[in-house]
Amino acid sequence: MTSPQHPAATRPPRHDIAHVGHVELLTPEPEASLRFFVDVLGLTENGREGNSVYLRTWDDYEHHTVKLTAHDTSGIRRVGLRTSSQAALEACVAAVEAAGLGIGWKDGDPGIGHCYLCRDPDGHEIELYWESEWYTPPAALRPALKNQAQAYPGRGVCVRRLDHVNYLAREAEPNGDFVCDVLGGRVTEQIMMDNGSIAAQWLHFTNKGYDLVYTRDWTGSTGRLHHVAFTPDNREDILRAADICLDAGIFIETGPHKHAIQQTFFLYVYEPGGNRIELCHPGARLVLAPDWRTVTWTEAERAKGQAWGLKTIESFHTHGTPPVGLCAVRGRRPARRCPYGLPMVDPPPPTLARGRPEHSPYTGHSCTARPTRAPGSCPRSRRGFSRSRARWSSSCSAGWASGGPWRMTATRGRGTGA
Ligand SMILES: [Fe+2]
Repeated sequence: MTSPQHPAATRPPRHDIAHVGHVELLTPEPEASLRFFVDVLGLTENGREGNSVYLRTWDDYEHHTVKLTAHDTSGIRRVGLRTSSQAALEACVAAVEAAGLGIGWKDGDPGIGHCYLCRDPDGHEIELYWESEWYTPPAALRPALKNQAQAYPGRGVCVRRLDHVNYLAREAEPNGDFVCDVLGGRVTEQIMMDNGSIAAQWLHFTNKGYDLVYTRDWTGSTGRLHHVAFTPDNREDILRAADICLDAGIFIETGPHKHAIQQTFFLYVYEPGGNRIELCHPGARLVLAPDWRTVTWTEAERAKGQAWGLKTIESFHTHGTPPVGLCAVRGRRPARRCPYGLPMVDPPPPTLARGRPEHSPYTGHSCTARPTRAPGSCPRSRRGFSRSRARWSSSCSAGWASGGPWRMTATRGRGTGA
């Protein structure tokens, strides 16, 4: 008989966190990244401020889904989590401060009220907020149905909503504990290595299978991003997304295929700034059981690959943003084991060493750099990650010259791990 007293039963999410509201992504290729989100994914611009452009998926009820910020490297600056009430926000803030992870209150971005900044144990910046201005579309974007936030854009992949954020972290488990114990989430699935350590955890606040994921960063770095995921309306849209990305010259890393963990149908691409983006569809899968038993995958099970046997591409384990080369792994020996249980070489290769070494996944240009070269240092790249190139790119973008919204100034090092 199943009951909450079952030894593997978990408590349901506390529901203080309602959902993942928005993300702030950093890009050294602001113009190209903007075109990717607008033309390829189908997001709609909803304002600009300083170095940032606000973008929204078409059925987001809030002001924006993505804040895209020009920066000297890639990565994620912040994730916004909307609470379920003002009281829930205050409860979360009290728990965060008790855990010693609070930063403080601040005025929110456009459409977002007073919010509280904190960090997870790995250093990723999180914005907790309750006050949110519901989106009112202009006449040209008004939907026919009143229960829809905005008219269907009919452009590119047409992602409907933000689905989840997958962080890289030096250790997965302390961050999972933070999400559970401080923010009231729950682990739905995880990977446990043969030595008993936790390599990755999938956590949820809602009835979705997962909202946040923590994957061990085997470079030993902190504060990095593995990917941000968006969801279109149906699974076939993922196949169509692959064709759209192919024609648009967007680097496809792996997929379309189906994950074993969480059973999500997926496609992974790199937006022009280097951040990994997942187009995902969970099917009809929901986690409804209040006494859900956390599913634990072993190294041997992970080594089998994805659901239908696709072997996990190695760049999936080595690429994160902002990029780090071996020289960036200071004073810490990289992990000898891939968190997914795959055999790895030692030392770990830089990102360009795997996948398509003849083709730079970041730039879309042919690249003959040897695999020992760190990402961004490709000598033949016209749009690399070097800081000087980022400045050049910004200053030369038509209509985005200095004085425009993409000024590359004073944005470095705020919770990005950069
Ligand atoms: Fe994902």
